[in-house]
Amino acid sequence: MYRLRLHRLRSSSIVRRAAGLAALALAIGLSFGAREPQEHRGRFGLTRLDTADGERASLDGFFPSSDCALCHPRQWNELSGSLHSVSHHDPLYRAFAELARKEAGPEVYASCSGCHSPAGVASGLIPDVPEERLPEDAKAGVTCDVCHQVDALSGAHGPWKEEGNASLVLRPGRTKFGPFDDIARNPAHSGAARDFFRSSEFCAACHTVIHPTNGLFIEHTYDEWKRSVYAEKGIQCQDCHMRSVEDAIRVARTLEPVEVRGRSATKGEERRIAPHFFVGGNVDADVLARSTKHADMAEARLKSAAELAIEVAPSATAQALAFDVIVTNVGAGHALPTSLTELREMWLHVRVLAEDGRVLFESGDLDEHGEIRDGAARFGAITLDAQGRKTFKPWEAVSFGWKRLVPPKGSTRDTFRCALPTDAGAVTIDARLHYRIAPPHVVRELLGEAAFVPQIVEMARAERSFAAR
Ligand code: HEC
Ligand code: HEC
Ligand code: HEC
Ligand code: HEC
Ligand code: HEC
Repeated sequence: MYRLRLHRLRSSSIVRRAAGLAALALAIGLSFGAREPQEHRGRFGLTRLDTADGERASLDGFFPSSDCALCHPRQWNELSGSLHSVSHHDPLYRAFAELARKEAGPEVYASCSGCHSPAGVASGLIPDVPEERLPEDAKAGVTCDVCHQVDALSGAHGPWKEEGNASLVLRPGRTKFGPFDDIARNPAHSGAARDFFRSSEFCAACHTVIHPTNGLFIEHTYDEWKRSVYAEKGIQCQDCHMRSVEDAIRVARTLEPVEVRGRSATKGEERRIAPHFFVGGNVDADVLARSTKHADMAEARLKSAAELAIEVAPSATAQALAFDVIVTNVGAGHALPTSLTELREMWLHVRVLAEDGRVLFESGDLDEHGEIRDGAARFGAITLDAQGRKTFKPWEAVSFGWKRLVPPKGSTRDTFRCALPTDAGAVTIDARLHYRIAPPHVVRELLGEAAFVPQIVEMARAERSFAAR
């Protein structure tokens, strides 16, 4: 659809057209829609989070992560400052979630909280207890005890036949579940192995977001991964997100897992371990989670994810310069961008420069408010509400109006055309792929006075010269 439409740029003599391999991205994008059944209600309402004994859990069953740090300082240092560690307090989430509570009601708010504040939901405190009266342990986010008290996944047997919407069965208590079946005796807890700790399905339980009442698959990182060569080769989410950035780059390049060895506990033996940084693309982690370390790692990860190439059309002349910019997803085990595609922004900034530096053509630059100008080559999604209007609020979404993602190990191609002035001489085509977590106007709308300007990261760059004959 969008593929055939010509985007008019500011100057009518310049057009850009997405073509070729973009069809592949389109095919991927549009095949994720609403699936049966439309609605699912569980013990805690519209979230699928559950407890093994079928009762509300006591909040005492969820220790703060800092308690685990006594014997697991490495994991604690790595987790602190990750988005998991602030998934309830993250200011962008807080503002968005309060808006959901106000506009869509407490049931929808509880569905958000099943993933963002699981202990609060499992203890029955969310959504009834007001935010300011909630104990801190209910707001601690995705903690050690949330993940390591997951006894089972419930997705395969439930609706949609796959993990999502917090399809986790919690069993708070003395046993911590993890990858090992033979842990060293210790005064704090016993251990038990669950195979899913080393598989993507565990992550999918929260990283697949399904609209709780209409069944639209809003975030489908797992499905993107499942159809990729990574899944085929047995590379799991953990192989990239529970590894250093350098190791993750190696994993993406070689399609072989990298094993890391070290101690699991200060008094443990040497084992196969897994770094707990959980870094994705959130370069604003310095603002949102007060961690420059995690923000820097996210930047490095984004810079390893894509490659750009420029191909000048063989028929190009100064009067009709035509060139393609090709984006290849080399490093992400899922689409680029992924998950919150209706919020995240990835786009091409393309310029044609004269020898003296004059800008002869530009696409994908920002306007005076910091928003991307119309006509840019973009990647992401637009969700529509029941009236067919554009909305960035997931609770209003009933369908995708547009979606364009670069599939894992796949490419997209955008064609740019312009006419050069007669005195242009040799020109340089400069293309950059940019990313930011959200458009500034959305951050302003959500955070008001406290708004920050989302950082723009240059993920990749390519340059090509062209001399008109
Ligand atoms: C199935 C689990 C799940 C549910 C339900 C869910 N989320 Fe999320 N949410 C996530 C995950 C996972 C991410 C991280 C995705 C990413 O960073 O790309 C996320 C990220 C976000 C972010 C971005 C935060 C940032 O710092 O960029 C916001 C805002 C957000 N969610 C709001 C909501 C709201 C509001 C709801 C309810 C209407 C909701 N979420 C429901 C799992 C969930
Ligand atoms: C008194 C020290 C101590 C404390 C406190 C402690 N642990 Fe442990 N934990 C250990 C030891 C020792 C091991 C085993 C290490 C080994 O065998 O290599 C272990 C292993 C584990 C494992 C692996 C289990 C498996 O079967 O794979 C997990 C998960 C775990 N701990 C989680 C936690 C969590 C969560 C907390 C906080 C609520 C915590 N631990 C607090 C000492 C402790
Ligand atoms: C988002 C879920 C999640 C959170 C939060 C989390 N873990 Fe883990 N943890 C895992 C997974 C998944 C593995 C297995 C990874 C693998 O082996 O590939 C693991 C492995 C472990 C192990 C054994 C391997 C190792 O690296 O030592 C221990 C011990 C452990 N976690 C303790 C902790 C502690 C302590 C915390 C809190 C500071 C914590 N975890 C937070 C998901 C989590
Ligand atoms: C209990 C739910 C839950 C589980 C299980 C879970 N996550 Fe998350 N994850 C979240 C939420 C919620 C966020 C977003 C928090 C925010 O931004 O406010 C998130 C954020 C992330 C991010 C940061 C994304 C960014 O934009 O930088 C990464 C990476 C990530 N998770 C990876 C994983 C991996 C890998 C696993 C499996 C080992 C996993 N998660 C399991 C809920 C979960
Ligand atoms: C081959 C390595 C690799 C694998 C496998 C992988 N990822 Fe990623 N992931 C990346 C890279 C690189 C990025 C940074 C680029 C980006 O933001 O998309 C990323 C980003 C993310 C983000 C942040 C996206 C955003 O823009 O907000 C989330 C969430 C995430 N991954 C979750 C997952 C989950 C869940 C799985 C398993 C289903 C997984 N990843 C598998 C490499 C990988």
